[in-house]
Amino acid sequence: MAGGAFVDSGPAGKEYPGKLTLYVFFTCVVAATGGLIFGYDIGISGGVTSMDSFLQKFFPSVYEKEQRNKDSNQYCKFDSQLLTTFTSSLYLAALIASFFAATVTRVFGRKWSMFGGGITFLIGAALNGAAKNVLMLILGRILLGIGVGFANQSVPVYLSEMAPARLRGMLNIGFQLMITIGILCANLINYGTSKITGGWGWRVSLALAAVPAAIITVGSLFLPDTPNSLIDRGHDEAARKMLHRIRGTDDIDEEYNDLVAASMESKLVEHPWANILRPKYRAQLTMAILIPFFQQLTGINVIMFYAPVLFKTIGFGNDASLMSSVITGLVNVFATLVSIFTVDKFGRRKLFLQGGSQMLICQIIVGTLIAIKLGTSGEGSFGKTYAGFLVFFICLYVAGFAWSWGPLGWLVPSEIFPLEIRSAGQSINVSVNMLFTFIIAQAFLTMLCHMKFGLFYFFGGWVFIMTTFIAFFLPETKNVPIEEMILVWRNHWFWGRFISDKDIHIGKNVEMGKGKPKAEA
Ligand code: BGC
Repeated sequence: MAGGAFVDSGPAGKEYPGKLTLYVFFTCVVAATGGLIFGYDIGISGGVTSMDSFLQKFFPSVYEKEQRNKDSNQYCKFDSQLLTTFTSSLYLAALIASFFAATVTRVFGRKWSMFGGGITFLIGAALNGAAKNVLMLILGRILLGIGVGFANQSVPVYLSEMAPARLRGMLNIGFQLMITIGILCANLINYGTSKITGGWGWRVSLALAAVPAAIITVGSLFLPDTPNSLIDRGHDEAARKMLHRIRGTDDIDEEYNDLVAASMESKLVEHPWANILRPKYRAQLTMAILIPFFQQLTGINVIMFYAPVLFKTIGFGNDASLMSSVITGLVNVFATLVSIFTVDKFGRRKLFLQGGSQMLICQIIVGTLIAIKLGTSGEGSFGKTYAGFLVFFICLYVAGFAWSWGPLGWLVPSEIFPLEIRSAGQSINVSVNMLFTFIIAQAFLTMLCHMKFGLFYFFGGWVFIMTTFIAFFLPETKNVPIEEMILVWRNHWFWGRFISDKDIHIGKNVEMGKGKPKAEA
């Protein structure tokens, strides 16, 4: 194949002077805590919806069905649209919020978007903790969703803009690390609160969402704006000072000039939403849609939302179910660390390809293990050793996700858009992610009931498709300065045809030849 589809098609690039300053490191840590609210929420709903006291109070029909079904079809006992609406309403709210967040992020800066997200989430947590009826519960979740929409819009972009190019992957994945820590904390809290006998354990679980919300709300007030956003909003001098401070060197002219050039270019664009449809952005638009779509089609949230329900479904006791989800939560955090330390060295593509293959193999094994014991009737149970094997392969699958699609699903979209479409592009990314999170959250229990063990093969099939897609269509983006990313697409065997030389005006210092980025040479 011409150009070699499997070969990283890096651009000619450059490396700006500067080092990783303590200041950048800390601002990135604080900003990344925006991931905690998203993670806490992902982790908390599954545990809460498997608590009897919660079901009895808000979803008595599901509770009765669960009681009645004790010995019959394991696959179908939790199938309830109302119950899934509780989990998934948040993602619809986040989807809509991310479009408004795009404007806030662009016009007022990334930090106010994070602040807005934190505050809204805080109110949602209070409403949920005090819920007296399903309406309060769902209203609270809508507010939490708005918070997530704002945070997920602004945090990844903030991190990618602050970071020096050669460490962008590592710093950006701080966001995903916080997501996984949020999920783990939620799992642990559910494990503790499920033991509260007074029937109010779920309230503690839901109200404690206020803690991560308070962290990002207060933290965001101390965050500086990114130089890219400052220049874009006309604060050139402040941007120069900020660049000087975050890069820890006086030698910032080259990077500064490129940021100004990128901003001037972006000023020519009147309608970022219409602009993103132009042929020269075809690659970015495709990625903004397909990467989040694929990330959700890995099936990860079946494990994240419903691990306790899933483990109960396949015959684990209450305690064992919650404990197993704590184990998958731990694996999720530690495996994310692997990507932090490898993403800028080996690159995004290698992680995608390795992680995807690992997930696929595990999904086939898990589906088959369940098929052998529960068959299509859904009747049967697992012995201890057998169940142990199952949890082991589920963990291996989670690990594969945690160093590939998990972090890269947020990193890659946040680093590929030119400034003029960055906020719009990121909204598309967030909203597609939320839409499919919603669809899977909403459909999972019904799918499990109908597709049975085949559900794992279904997601496995998607993982095969997405891994092949990455192999052919995603160029390597490691080490490439964010405002020079267009060269990566220009040099790609497929996407290059949509971009002409006149589309490339990024600073006078750029060489336009083909080849590897300098940092890689
Ligand atoms: C995804 C979530 C998922 C989480 C698991 C995130 O990157 O967007 O949907 O639940 O990773 O760690």
